[in-house]
Amino acid sequence: MTYTSILTSKQDLYAIVQFNRPDVLNAINITLMKELVDALEHFDTDDEVRAIIVTGNEKAFAAGADIKEMANASAMEMLLRDQFARWDRIRKIKKPIIAAVSGFALGGGCELAMTCDIIIASESARFGQPEISIGVMPGAGGTQRLTRAVGKAKAMEMVLTGRMISGEEAMRWGLVNKVVPVEYYLEEAKTLAKEIASKPPVAVRLAKEAVLKAFDTTIEGGLEFERKNFYLLFASEDQKEGMKAFVEKRKAEWKGK
Ligand code: CAA
Repeated sequence: MTYTSILTSKQDLYAIVQFNRPDVLNAINITLMKELVDALEHFDTDDEVRAIIVTGNEKAFAAGADIKEMANASAMEMLLRDQFARWDRIRKIKKPIIAAVSGFALGGGCELAMTCDIIIASESARFGQPEISIGVMPGAGGTQRLTRAVGKAKAMEMVLTGRMISGEEAMRWGLVNKVVPVEYYLEEAKTLAKEIASKPPVAVRLAKEAVLKAFDTTIEGGLEFERKNFYLLFASEDQKEGMKAFVEKRKAEWKGK
């Protein structure tokens, strides 16, 4: 498929999806979201890809949903467009997704980063949910994911004031994994993608699934789910190989099954 609003590439065992609407700070319109989901689903079934990086450019990861596209929409139009349904499909991606964030990650941009599994930020990253300042509120998971990531007090502050926080603050608050100088944020994400790609893919998949389960179940249900995934991995050739290689003091060779 030819994309107009994103760029995609593959290197080693990971893929990169880069937003490509620099004139509007990568504002997320319907086309960009369609293309992003299409690319993610494509890479999710590509055996040569074991991790996916989602990124923007130095100035903006994404400055939110495209305000011009929805400014005049009626509630019924918004309901029928059901544009956030597409966002739910990102949750179903089985491979790890790393957000490499520099510049603005606002509104839908912040929500998109939070939908990813790991966030690497540059020192110039700015996270925020500024929807309140344009008469609305977060609509793509901000009130839920931000609250789970930083707790009620900080989430309330961000959602009710629309204030932006720096990458450094975001890290202190538990929203991002690492903050690095702007010239390294993509490199850092690539290093992490390569490291994850070097692990046994089935174990990575089931481990990601189990961590995400923590968001929508009780501790008891989650522990049960984790245990089943753990036992299931003993049916994989990679478990046999991984443990055998450890005992034989050699490097394991993964088959991905
Ligand atoms: N939608 C559409 N266009 C946007 C945009 C957005 N979210 N954010 C920026 N742009 C456009 C601007 O209109 C401008 O285009 P023109 O040159 O054609 O005027 C261009 O990008 C550059 O932006 P600025 O001139 O405003 O750049 P700046 O450096 O002065 O300010 C900014 C940067 C603080 C991020 C400012 O652009 C801004 O406040 N953007 C909107 C942020 C926002 O409110 N996001 C939430 C959107 S709603 C949402 O996301 C809902 C949801 O939950 C899914």
